Amino acid sequence: MTITAGHAADASAEPTYPMPRGCPFDPPAELAQLRVEKPISRVRLWDGSSPWLVTRYEDVRSLLADRRVSSDSSRPGYPDQSASIRARRENSTSFITMDDPAHARYRKMVIGDFTVRRTESWRPLITRIVDDLLDAMERGPRPTDLVEAFALPLPSMVICQILGVPYEDHNFFQERSRALVDISLDPQVSVQANEELREYLTGLMAAKEAEPTDDILGRLAQRYVLSGELSRGDAVSMALLLLVAGHETTANMIGLGTLTLLQHPEQAAEVRDGDPAVVNSAVEELLRLLTVVHTGRRRVATEDIQIGGVTIRAGEGIIAAGESANRDAAAFTAPDELDIKREPNHHLAFGFGVHQCLGQPLARLELQIAYPALLRRFPELRVAVPEEEIRYRDKMIVYGVQALPVSW
Ligand code: HEM
Repeated sequence: MTITAGHAADASAEPTYPMPRGCPFDPPAELAQLRVEKPISRVRLWDGSSPWLVTRYEDVRSLLADRRVSSDSSRPGYPDQSASIRARRENSTSFITMDDPAHARYRKMVIGDFTVRRTESWRPLITRIVDDLLDAMERGPRPTDLVEAFALPLPSMVICQILGVPYEDHNFFQERSRALVDISLDPQVSVQANEELREYLTGLMAAKEAEPTDDILGRLAQRYVLSGELSRGDAVSMALLLLVAGHETTANMIGLGTLTLLQHPEQAAEVRDGDPAVVNSAVEELLRLLTVVHTGRRRVATEDIQIGGVTIRAGEGIIAAGESANRDAAAFTAPDELDIKREPNHHLAFGFGVHQCLGQPLARLELQIAYPALLRRFPELRVAVPEEEIRYRDKMIVYGVQALPVSW
């Protein structure tokens, strides 16, 4: 049977998306049910719209690679994450919500800074930051919050160094970055956080235009802004995207990933032993299982698309649920289990298609260094509060733990 847009079934029967989680480590159970019973189905969003939710691995992958699917958030029908994101869109479009050729033009300006090879050159920097943070943690009080002591400062220091943003200002930009990924915030608060961050980065770009610096923003300023290829405003949008994407995501993988490993002591022991092949595949498995960017890839159809017995009409919103695809039994054996030696592991935690995560080599390297170093430094690492006291980031675009009190 083909179901079309205009004849959507009774709207009240549409599940709301995102759904609340039951178990904090698993996507909502309704997603598993939809995968089996109605893998491409309409859901209801915060604004009453009802885009298509795509839950199976093959369908998610195929739509994310489909040129008839747009990432352009200014198109009618685009399924915005929240009122606050819609409100600040006017002034904050970056290449993650553009289509080619504009998307490719901007992405190309920074792609050379995120290749696997280039990223590998930062290994000594990342290792030093990890060691320094662990030293400070060892000297500090017990219990301590792992998020504040390690999970957040590590990616934040790394991305600051690479971009050329002064880490001394981290309280300012971390607080505002958090506001940008909080879908429950009042739109005005979010718009203000965005404006303040833009103002800060505008000053920074201006300084880098005046005086060259050997970092990504410095190169953008000198090579593209001064030559007129990139407006300062567009450079600021790119800087903002890189800054926010560069630390919210990895930080939450460190926090939630560590908690997951602590719940699987035998597998944690193997990560602690540090065999690079095991560590690397453990990182991939944690990325898959946790899929911290957990509220689906947002898209809109530009032409009618026939998929899975359904016609998605041009102009209709699509949510390609990576968090569900990564738990699809048709793609992964025992998908709800942590198996750090899973092979193959073609997960979609970094997305798929032209918008696939630009920073994935960096995120991988940080995680490959962070998990074994932390577990080796504190072989007795344990969560210092009863499990039910741990608070999760349910209302955030990037999922994770709000805090993780640990002792050793
Ligand atoms: C574990 C950490 C990370 C995860 C799980 C993650 C996940 C993702 C996902 C799912 C997308 C696709 C968005 C879409 O298709 O709509 C994406 C895009 C992106 N990510 Fe990451 N990311 C991580 C770390 C990073 C880091 C460290 C950076 C560094 C700056 C970064 C920069 C970006 C950028 C710039 C894009 C947009 C790419 C484009 O539109 O062409 N990410 N990321």
